[in-house]
Amino acid sequence: MSTSTDERADEARLEQLLEEQFEAVVARHERIEPRDWMPEGYRRTLVRQIAQHAHSEIIGMQPEGRWLTRAPSLRRKAVLLAKVQDEAGHGLYLYSACETLGVSRAELTEMLIDGRQKYSSIFNYPTLSYADVGTIGWLVDGAAICNQVPLCRTSYGPYGRAMIRVCKEESFHQRQGYELLMTMMAGTDEQRAMVQESVDRFWWPALMMFGPPDDASPNTARSLAWGIKRNTNDELRQKFVDMTVPQAERLGVTLPDPDLRWDEERGAHDFGQPDWDELTRVISGAGPCNAERIAHRRRAHEDGAWVREAASAFARATKEPGRDRAQVEQASGSSLRDPEGRVETP
Ligand SMILES: [Fe+2]
Ligand SMILES: [Fe+2]
Repeated sequence: MSTSTDERADEARLEQLLEEQFEAVVARHERIEPRDWMPEGYRRTLVRQIAQHAHSEIIGMQPEGRWLTRAPSLRRKAVLLAKVQDEAGHGLYLYSACETLGVSRAELTEMLIDGRQKYSSIFNYPTLSYADVGTIGWLVDGAAICNQVPLCRTSYGPYGRAMIRVCKEESFHQRQGYELLMTMMAGTDEQRAMVQESVDRFWWPALMMFGPPDDASPNTARSLAWGIKRNTNDELRQKFVDMTVPQAERLGVTLPDPDLRWDEERGAHDFGQPDWDELTRVISGAGPCNAERIAHRRRAHEDGAWVREAASAFARATKEPGRDRAQVEQASGSSLRDPEGRVETP
């Protein structure tokens, strides 16, 4: 055997050992960390899923963000502002988690605005009334909670840890939405009609958030085996329906599904199927707001270029030998100190 054949055999043995170690960690439900060896397919699947999740948080700021200037009271505005800002934070934790897998946030943003990576189908629907703010909180953030709570136990450490904080904030989002709808339902007939109309529009797209049915979801088995996903799409959809039906009753709205009923034997609700062709259309870019969402994101990214350049230039300048932060600030005629003299972090 030649040396290079020996080396190849050694490499193959090492790879097998590493793979066995990886499988054992996953089987024990422990975490894989950024410096651990991982199969290339696992890394790629995680990049795709975490990026898609991060993009959803950032694009998800748009449908509700457009109502910030038209909130009906100062209280509603403060609540909505806090919620939309939380979503930006979620996006940032998730981009950071994704960066631990060797891909930069700049690359991820490029892939989003080029259409090479996707985001949740739900954010391609318009928000037509203020009731939609409540419905999104109740149904969309509610569906996100069903999806994300099991991800706190996902096998990749940085993703799981990001999800713990995200889920706490999502609970607040869901409650603020439900509380808004409760208030409207206690109001005038017109307000009640607005809530019902909003729920009618968002119910089916909310069910689609869990993805296609299990028999049309080819990647699920692999993701479950790797401990990335903990439940199938259909299991999560069922959980969401069972959780939401009693909330709808309490609220006094009708969910627009004639097939929705309690199945005594299964101990769960039976329900109708969303229009899966619609999901395919929306995911492939032909939903009502896809073009608008991406155009807005692209514009925001381009408008922010000077901030990224200035921050990088500042960081480079402060690293030059013999120059400290105060000197750079003085030389550039700018100050990152707030009025009380504290230095703000760029
Ligand atoms: Fe979020
Ligand atoms: Fe949220």
